Amino acid sequence: AAVPDLAGRRVVISAGGTRESIDPVRFIGNHSSGKQGYALARTAVARGADVTLVAANVSLSDPAGARVVQVTSAVELAEVMEAERADADVIVMSAAVADFRPAASVTSKIKKSGAAPAPIELVENPDVLAGLVAARKREGTGQIIVGFAAETDDVLANGRAKLARKGCDLLVVNQVGGGRAFGTEDNQAVVLGSDGTAVEIPYGPKEDLADRVWDLVGERSPR
Ligand code: PMT
Repeated sequence: AAVPDLAGRRVVISAGGTRESIDPVRFIGNHSSGKQGYALARTAVARGADVTLVAANVSLSDPAGARVVQVTSAVELAEVMEAERADADVIVMSAAVADFRPAASVTSKIKKSGAAPAPIELVENPDVLAGLVAARKREGTGQIIVGFAAETDDVLANGRAKLARKGCDLLVVNQVGGGRAFGTEDNQAVVLGSDGTAVEIPYGPKEDLADRVWDLVGERSPR
């Protein structure tokens, strides 16, 4: 059994992938299954945390002992995270959030007209993680914020740049593409710290990766 080192901690974890509606039958989505985020939730419960899991389009069974809030789009995810963030000790953003959404989600199915297909205009979604970091800064709390980064190329360099840009405490950088990370049972990562640290987590079950992330969070939380 795990050491209950997160006892009394309120943690909020986002998981899965957002869907951005094009019309009533179509959306822009991504390949996130939610497995990594659910593994984070299960391990946090095992370590004694009070867990809220914000799940975007995940078809896995709810982790026992966690409160699950369902969302669909990035804007909904942003709203729920805003509502949940205030009394969280730790926030982990493992969800794959769409950076863009269709400017207009039409209410009737788009039909073939025989003419050239109309382009889909996109607008930018809120950056949820950056918003959480900004809110913490305004409030000056000791909350710990963990981001994830899905990179296909120059994984470390892109990860470092993303950590600086987003301003979170830890960034779990996993390589994607070529069948890696999305939807798999196993994962590997380098966890970059805002203090300049880099911890390699070897390839293995997503639960093991999750436990290592909680270890690193534990090292940073005031007890
Ligand atoms: O769900 P699985 O199938 O198990 O796969 C796991 C995973 C690959 C989805 C997961 O390990 C992972 O890498 N999640 C983050 C994916 C992602 O969106 O990365 P990103 O590099 O695009 O975003 C960086 C960070 O900013 C993430 O913490 C993301 O949640 C956050 N973000 C991104 C865009 C946005 N508009 N708002 C955000 O908060």
